[in-house]
Amino acid sequence: MTEQLLRPLRVGAVQLANNLALAPMAGITNAAFRVLASGGGAGLVVTEMVSAESLKYGNKKSFRMLELLPGERPAAIQVFGADPASMALAAQAAERAGADMVDVNAGCPVKKVRRSGAGAELMRSPLLLADIVSRMVKSVKVPVTVKFRTGLEEGANLGPLLARVCEEAGASAITLHGRPASQFHSGPVNLEHMAAAAAAVKIPVFGNGGVDGAATARTMLEAGCSGVAVGRAAVFNPAVFAEIAAGLAGRDAPAPSDADRIKLFLRFLELNAGIYGEEHGLARARKLVGYWLKGLPGAAGARGAFMKLKTLKEAEELLIQYTRQ
Ligand SMILES: Cc1cc2nc3c(=O)[nH]c(=O)nc-3n(C[C@H](O)[C@H](O)[C@H](O)COP(=O)(O)O)c2cc1C
Repeated sequence: MTEQLLRPLRVGAVQLANNLALAPMAGITNAAFRVLASGGGAGLVVTEMVSAESLKYGNKKSFRMLELLPGERPAAIQVFGADPASMALAAQAAERAGADMVDVNAGCPVKKVRRSGAGAELMRSPLLLADIVSRMVKSVKVPVTVKFRTGLEEGANLGPLLARVCEEAGASAITLHGRPASQFHSGPVNLEHMAAAAAAVKIPVFGNGGVDGAATARTMLEAGCSGVAVGRAAVFNPAVFAEIAAGLAGRDAPAPSDADRIKLFLRFLELNAGIYGEEHGLARARKLVGYWLKGLPGAAGARGAFMKLKTLKEAEELLIQYTRQ
C-alpha cells in the first residue's frame, strides 16, 4: 500500500519520476528555488504565477519569469489572466520558453488579481474557465493543467464540477487546494471535498494544502489524490520531497544536518546571483534567511548581518562563521 502511494505519474505526455510536486508560490518559487526543490526530490516544479496580460504587452520582467534553468525539470510555468486569447498567447510564450507544462491559476485569492477577473474569480465562471483551458490546449503541444480551490467561500464544494469542466476542456491534470479562497492559506483542508474531486475525473488530481511530511501526504493520497503539491513546507525545507518520499516508502528520512542546510542555502545564493547579479540576488534571498537559518546556532545574529551583505563571498564567510558557534 505505502509503495503505491509514492509512484511515478504521467501528466499528458510528460512522465514524472514521482507524484510529489512543488506548489507555485509568488515571490518564492523562482528558478533558483526550483532547482533546489528538483534536487530535493520534487517530481514536478512550478514557477511563480506570471501575468498573461503583462506577457502580451512584452513586459520584460514577466518574460524573465519564464526563464528556466537546466536543473529544474520537469517544470510547469503558471500563468494567470481572464482573457482566453491572452492566456493562449501566454501558453505559447511559456512553451517557447521550454515549459514542460503550462498551469492555469484559478485559485489566487489576492484582491488585485481577482479585480481583473483572474485567479479565484475564474471559479465563478466555469464556462470562461473552460474557454481559457480549451484555447490554451489548442495553442500548445505541452499539457495544460489547472490549479483551483474547493470554492470561493467556506462550505463550497466546487472541486468535482470544476475538475470535470477542466478535464472536458482538455486539461491533463488538476491541483486542488483544499481550502476556499476566503481562507487564503490557513485553516483546515477539506479531505472529503478533495476525495470527491479526485473521484470525479480520470486525469490526475494533486491534493494541496497543509502537506508538511509523509503523514499528511499519505492522508491526501489515501483520500484518492494521485499526487500532492507542497507549498510552505518546501519553503522551510526545499528537500522536504525526499523526506516525504522516504516516509511514504516506509524508510526513515534523517533531517538535514546544519551543514547540509548551510550548503543548500549557499547553493541558492549562487543560483540567485547567476540570475539577478550578486547584490540583487542576495537582497532577494532575505525573506528566506529566517526560515533557512531557524534553529541554527547564532541564527538571530546571522539574520541581522545578512541584510547588509553585498557579495557571495561575504555571505559564505558569514554563514560559516555563525554556524560554527
Ligand atoms: C507566499 C505564497 C505565494 C503563493 N503564490 C501562489 C501562486 O503564484 N500561484 C498559485 O497557484 N498559488 C500560490 N500560492 C498558494 C500555494 O501554491 C498553495 O496552494 C498554498 O500555499 C497551500 O499549500 P501549503 O499549505 O502546502 O502551503 C502561494 C502561497 C504562498 C504562501
